Amino acid sequence: MKPFTTPTHTLSNSSKPILTVAAIFLLCFLGWVLFIGNRGDPSSVFRIPNPRSDDAKREVEACDIFDGEWVMDNETTRPLYREEDCEFLSEWTTCLRNGRKDALFQKWRWQPRDCSLAVFDPRLLLEKLRGKRIMFVGDSVHLNQWQSLVCMVQSAVPRGSKKVVYSDEYTQAFQIQMYNASIEYYWAPFLVDSNSDPPTMRDGRTESIVNPDSIFSKRGEAWKQADYLIFNTYAWWLRYPTIKLLLRGPSSSSFADVAPEYDEIERHLGYERALRRWGEWVDENVDPNRTSVFFTSMFPQHQWSLDWNNTDGVRCEKETMPFQNVSVPLNVQTDVRFYGVTSRVLASMRTPVNLLNITALSERRKDGHPSVYGTYGGQVLTPEQKSNPAAYADCLHWCLPGVPDTWNELLYNRILAY
Ligand SMILES: *[C@@H]1O[C@H](CO)[C@@H](O)[C@H](O)[C@H]1NC(C)=O
Ligand SMILES: *[C@@H]1O[C@H](CO)[C@@H](O)[C@H](O)[C@H]1NC(C)=O
Ligand SMILES: *[C@@H]1O[C@H](CO)[C@@H](O)[C@H](O)[C@H]1NC(C)=O
Ligand SMILES: *[C@@H]1O[C@H](CO)[C@@H](O)[C@H](O)[C@H]1NC(C)=O
Ligand SMILES: *[C@@H]1O[C@H](CO)[C@@H](O)[C@H](O)[C@H]1NC(C)=O
Ligand SMILES: *[C@@H]1O[C@H](CO)[C@@H](O)[C@H](O)[C@H]1NC(C)=O
Repeated sequence: MKPFTTPTHTLSNSSKPILTVAAIFLLCFLGWVLFIGNRGDPSSVFRIPNPRSDDAKREVEACDIFDGEWVMDNETTRPLYREEDCEFLSEWTTCLRNGRKDALFQKWRWQPRDCSLAVFDPRLLLEKLRGKRIMFVGDSVHLNQWQSLVCMVQSAVPRGSKKVVYSDEYTQAFQIQMYNASIEYYWAPFLVDSNSDPPTMRDGRTESIVNPDSIFSKRGEAWKQADYLIFNTYAWWLRYPTIKLLLRGPSSSSFADVAPEYDEIERHLGYERALRRWGEWVDENVDPNRTSVFFTSMFPQHQWSLDWNNTDGVRCEKETMPFQNVSVPLNVQTDVRFYGVTSRVLASMRTPVNLLNITALSERRKDGHPSVYGTYGGQVLTPEQKSNPAAYADCLHWCLPGVPDTWNELLYNRILAY
């Protein structure tokens, strides 16, 4: 935690990599803590009026829905649900309850430049999911998105017909009995196997070793059962400039070895090897006639207030407004090399994969993170911790209701288009 005691804005460029490493270390730790999730029984029913729009649906199929603007929608349509009405939210997302005073971050709607999105209708989505399973596979930010979707639909399901089931330490499923449908989450921070997968290894205290050749034996069986698969992997690759890849020599090194043998290469190259293996797995195992495959682009972070010339804030602390009227490309230090790799790998696959290109639109939402209104070690921050954003602000995950609701609206529009 040491590096965080120095305010970010006094750091020189040369110390940035150290801070990156430290920040990601902390965030991965948070990710682990957060993965524990929230457990509870369903109760509330909160209905949202939602006109359906078939015209909008047709329009969306032909338009780049990821290119547009955030517009303030301060009438009755935002947020899509209220924090206090969704018991499935974890404490690390309920920023208002944790003391955040500004609530404007809940009021922004994504407006594509060339079309309008179909208005989210939970009943229509549930009809589409009848007898089906939708599964988010990835890291804790994807868990953030899973919680968002659960909250977006749960108001349309009567009490007693919904519950969250934890079948093992990797998965959790929101089951909707009256539709025989489920919305599931599967923990796989690198998609391929790594020594950070087991619950005891998610604290980010040990440097991850990734097995880029893993064949997804057990986890793959679970993924194959889904009708909609939404994959992501990004944050865990960022901890260091390089990544350790398990070597498969004649002696066949394994994570269980006392000193597993590994290669260390630049992280985007490691990502490419892993993603290619993932692509092969999808091509070999997913039946595109049954299952729609989505891949979510990088979830951006807002760790350095100097990236947007704010010399007064520390990391994403004090950010209450999105970037607006963006004319020059923003640089919040997203590793854009991952875009290139993702595009190449998806293009080389037989299976059509729908890219959810949410990076740029989310980069504008520096106001969307919990900051000091999240949790640390499973607890809401103490006043003392709140006064130390350099050490404790969470600028990786997102408050709910908030930005992940928009990712799900975009996903919803893609699902309707099928
Ligand atoms: C994602 O969207 C952004 C903004 O519209 C665009 O600049 C970028 O090229 C897109 N990336 C991919 C891989 O499609
Ligand atoms: C809604 O937003 C508009 C423009 O952003 C602003 O002029 C208006 O005062 C806002 N209304 C409320 C009730 O906040
Ligand atoms: C419920 O959905 C599953 C697929 O997720 C299917 O195998 C099963 O037959 C369905 N059950 C009923 C009663 O429709
Ligand atoms: C998918 O459906 C098409 C058309 O019905 C069929 O030709 C093709 O063999 C099917 N593919 C698989 C993998 O089942
Ligand atoms: C920050 O300042 C630099 C230099 O004046 C400028 O080029 C850049 O666009 C600014 N960034 C933002 C996000 O305002
Ligand atoms: C963004 O641009 C629009 C139209 O040019 C203008 O009305 C609005 O005030 C601008 N908003 C900000 C925050 O600069």
